[in-house]
Amino acid sequence: MNHWRQVGIALGLVLCSSACAEDIEVLALDIISYEDFIQEDPVSLQVLQNALLEKGIVGVRGVPGYKERVLKFIETAQAFSALPEDAKEAYAPKSEEAFLGYERGKEKFQRPDGSWVVDDLKVSYYAFVPENPQNKWPHELDLQSPFLDLGDVMRQMGLAVMQTIGLLNYQNGICLDDVPRVGRMLYYRKSENTIGGNPFWCGAHFDHSLFTTLLPAFYFSNGEAIPEPIEAGLFVKSISDGVYRKVVANDPDVLLFQVGEFGQLVSNDAIRATEHRVHKAYGNVERYTMALFCDAPMDTVIHSTSVLTQDPRYGAKSGEACSYQHWNAETFKRFHVDKSE
Ligand SMILES: [Fe+2]
Repeated sequence: MNHWRQVGIALGLVLCSSACAEDIEVLALDIISYEDFIQEDPVSLQVLQNALLEKGIVGVRGVPGYKERVLKFIETAQAFSALPEDAKEAYAPKSEEAFLGYERGKEKFQRPDGSWVVDDLKVSYYAFVPENPQNKWPHELDLQSPFLDLGDVMRQMGLAVMQTIGLLNYQNGICLDDVPRVGRMLYYRKSENTIGGNPFWCGAHFDHSLFTTLLPAFYFSNGEAIPEPIEAGLFVKSISDGVYRKVVANDPDVLLFQVGEFGQLVSNDAIRATEHRVHKAYGNVERYTMALFCDAPMDTVIHSTSVLTQDPRYGAKSGEACSYQHWNAETFKRFHVDKSE
């Protein structure tokens, strides 16, 4: 049992005895070094592959230039979040179909009892990476440079990991050369009453695209950086036993990787998508992070035999055709809150 697991379980039990309803299990997160990754160390690459197949998440530590960019990005994300709400709303999409720019509380997720809950404390800023004429950027401060600088490292590493695990080789191959990545700055607002109601900053879900690259999260209380509270953070559902475990990656030099649903579809279930959720912190705590989603080209047509073809979003039978454009649009319809709701 590793140190974090011991600490996590100990703290989890202490916490659960007084405040929460469930035990917190900590995931034994696999992290390989960047050096071993680029030198294609066979043991490390096997660790990476197994982690994505069995746990749905893996980390790489020490990507050159990454840590500095992360710290600059988080500082800028805090500054942007501190702007008045009406200033930020000026950068919200102007139509129901658009998504680039500022977004507050627009996603909903289904709870185990079938009810839908809006993640009302989740705030986002979306932009394509690399820079794209469709991106919109705030005038009050320079969010663009830190967002794109960090996003570029995430894009390159995400591509390298996808190539390493062979994710782009299925269904006659997928070429991502002209595909913009979708960067998402995430800011989770503090919640004064976490007990009862929605215990999640972000409900259980799968990312719908091919692959996701993400940062470990950064936490603040009254503007001061604090360690991740034990009850809070990213939890992933283990593919082998279905148990949610907390991902402890309290290190700004680690970059994380997860699999999306379209990755599972193209691979006919050889690689499973990562089911995950974000638990709220108690009290006056805010959370910042960034995710970079890798879409397939919109005109990609697959003939998947994955179990995910049973999802109505696929719109066809197992073995029949579905385009990424269709999968993407159906996902947006299902999880986005429209104005009439
Ligand atoms: Fe997600």
